[in-house]
Amino acid sequence: MATVTELLEPVELDLETLLSDLRSLIGAGHPILQAAAEHLFSAGGKRLRPGIVLLISRALSQGGDLSPRHRRLAEITEMIHTASLVHDDVVDEAATRRGVETVHSRFNHRVAVLAGDFLFAQASWHLANLDNLDVVKLLSRVIMDLADGEVKQGLYRYDSGQSFENYLEKSYCKTASLIANSAQAAGVLSNQSEDRLQLLHHFGRQLGLAFQVVDDILDFTGSEKQLGKPAANDLASGYLTAPVLFALQEHPSLAVLIERELTSADDLEQALQLVRGSDAIPRSRELAERFARESREALTWLPDSSYKRALVDLPDFVLGRLC
Ligand code: IPE
Ligand code: IPE
Ligand code: MG
Ligand code: MG
Repeated sequence: MATVTELLEPVELDLETLLSDLRSLIGAGHPILQAAAEHLFSAGGKRLRPGIVLLISRALSQGGDLSPRHRRLAEITEMIHTASLVHDDVVDEAATRRGVETVHSRFNHRVAVLAGDFLFAQASWHLANLDNLDVVKLLSRVIMDLADGEVKQGLYRYDSGQSFENYLEKSYCKTASLIANSAQAAGVLSNQSEDRLQLLHHFGRQLGLAFQVVDDILDFTGSEKQLGKPAANDLASGYLTAPVLFALQEHPSLAVLIERELTSADDLEQALQLVRGSDAIPRSRELAERFARESREALTWLPDSSYKRALVDLPDFVLGRLC
């Protein structure tokens, strides 16, 4: 199974440029906000989302070149993603991210809230400066979805009666919307037909859902060291993800533990064991596989190139994180 660096190899140089451009873009803020943003950018995320924008952009251009606007779109995508993580970690009270302290742990909550806002605002400013109303609509919708997703997640904490539909909607808002809309926006900047724009959106949507289901499985099966962020944290926070929702169908007794918010001694340990020992993990994996397949199938029309090959391998890479 390829690593993310191998997979993104066709746009590796673009991603290096992206990192230095991001540094100079955030250079416009107050030093404390800069320091906070720099802290996470240097920790080195996978840069999957800008990687996808860059691969699509190059796959769609005749000579495989990249315009400054496509480049800027990739930067905006990573800024929005990073901003959402800074805020998500405040909401989740998570101590680590990308293997380092979260912004609110390293600095404080005020700085984290403002640093997230600062990144969202920077992203919006650069978005407006792309001078393309369709792209502005697509990416500003993402920022709405992100807030909506966090609120949805909060409202359904410890609600063992919530529907699977609800979980998927939340996952679309928090994760898939950014990938789907930025993929589509890359197509808009490349003057693609409406049909193709919809397929790019579908590719990103299904990939994002696969990615979130995999992330939710890893929360049960991975370690903090592997993940670079806390493990077994979702259920402890009352967030009921695919593995829990499947396990609830198998073990109604799990609902009792969840409804009392896992407050008695051993509740969490017992609940984790019920989930880990049930069919929930394989069923979640099957769900992620279905999303990954649908994502891959949405790209068959792209002309063959190293960029296309990387894109169609991405869904498998996402599933490969489970190995
Ligand atoms: C983390 O995304 C948030 C989720 C959607 C689960 P990534 O795992 O892509 O985070 P980085 O950017 O590589 O740190
Ligand atoms: C991922 O949600 C999406 C966003 C951060 C917006 P999670 O809450 O599952 O992400 P992690 O697990 O904190 O990375
Ligand atoms: Mg989180
Ligand atoms: Mg998670």
